[in-house]
Amino acid sequence: MRYRYLITGTAGFIGFHVAQALLKDGNEVLGIDNLNPYYAPVLKQARHQVLSQYPNFQCKTSDLCDLDSLNSYFQTYQPTIVCHLAAQPGVRYSLKNPWIYVKNNLEAFVNVLEMAKQYHIQRLVYASSSSVYGNVTEIPYHEDQRIETPISLYASTKRSNELIAYTYTHIYGIQTIGLRFFTVYGPWGRPDMAIWKFCDAIVKQQIIPIYNYGKNFRDFTYVTDIVQGILSALHTPELANYEIFNLGNHQPENTLAILHLLEAELQMQGKIQLLPAQPGDMETTFANIDKAKAKLGFYPKTNIVQGIHSFVTWFQEHLTLAEEVRKIGCLG
Ligand SMILES: NC(=O)c1ccc[n+]([C@@H]2O[C@H](COP(=O)([O-])OP(=O)(O)OC[C@H]3O[C@@H](n4cnc5c(N)ncnc54)[C@H](O)[C@@H]3O)[C@@H](O)[C@H]2O)c1
Repeated sequence: MRYRYLITGTAGFIGFHVAQALLKDGNEVLGIDNLNPYYAPVLKQARHQVLSQYPNFQCKTSDLCDLDSLNSYFQTYQPTIVCHLAAQPGVRYSLKNPWIYVKNNLEAFVNVLEMAKQYHIQRLVYASSSSVYGNVTEIPYHEDQRIETPISLYASTKRSNELIAYTYTHIYGIQTIGLRFFTVYGPWGRPDMAIWKFCDAIVKQQIIPIYNYGKNFRDFTYVTDIVQGILSALHTPELANYEIFNLGNHQPENTLAILHLLEAELQMQGKIQLLPAQPGDMETTFANIDKAKAKLGFYPKTNIVQGIHSFVTWFQEHLTLAEEVRKIGCLG
């Protein structure tokens, strides 16, 4: 069955891939994104250009905090399902600019929920994050763990989203499905994240800072697998009114090992500098995905070697874009 989707954050990494998958299947998609400069807007525009090749795609460059505009898009477009992926990501940047996290992750989220309420949206799927597990020591992380120790403001806003969603489900009966993504990577990825940064620095022969002396582990999850999980969360009929799922690879990788895989793929050596841990950074992320397997049929298929190969291939095909992105830099 085909639906009308409203997706927020379609110029972003994950929103772009989700929108493309839905458009390829012949669905109608309205994308909303404010193209903010946290990282190079030129990359966000390039993603929207790809989506604009589909006749069933419409997009609005608009801020979700502008409630009147948001209201007018819901009124005109009348979406059936909303997938809310727009947010201010990044742990480190939340130390520098906490206010933007309150705006883009809390105010914008309440606006989307208010619209979901007003326009009787069947289901709201939204992005949470592995960062909500914070100082939890028992791994792999599972959804039933008590989590009250977020160690960055980014993580606090993501955990708050889950609590706010619960309230809207409880009072208004809106079905809300929260997805805790674990370090997503792949083509069209984010230039503030390790895999892009390492790859770019190896190519440019620049020093690569490796935090926590290379002892961090991340459950790197390939974007196509994440998209499959999101599509299941959008479409699986038998979900409860309030759900939270881990979407990870269940295979944590050491950050230095990732660097070596990139070096092998690029056939170049990186220049590294080992540094202490950064405030807000978790040492390990590791997802228990039993619940997502059972209820969403979520079985990640892409191992890290295949995933890095696909990313590097894409990167090498987009060196001009990567160069522009590098020149502009990231706020995070
Ligand atoms: N990429 C990951 O590894 C990862 C991990 C955990 C959680 N997440 C979450 O998944 C979602 C998507 O992440 P991503 O990696 O695609 O990030 P991204 O930054 O590439 O995409 C987010 C998009 O949202 C837009 N945006 C932000 N605030 C907005 C606002 N107020 N109004 C309109 N647009 C706004 C940005 O311009 C951006 O294009 C986010 O909620 C993020 O917190 C991502």
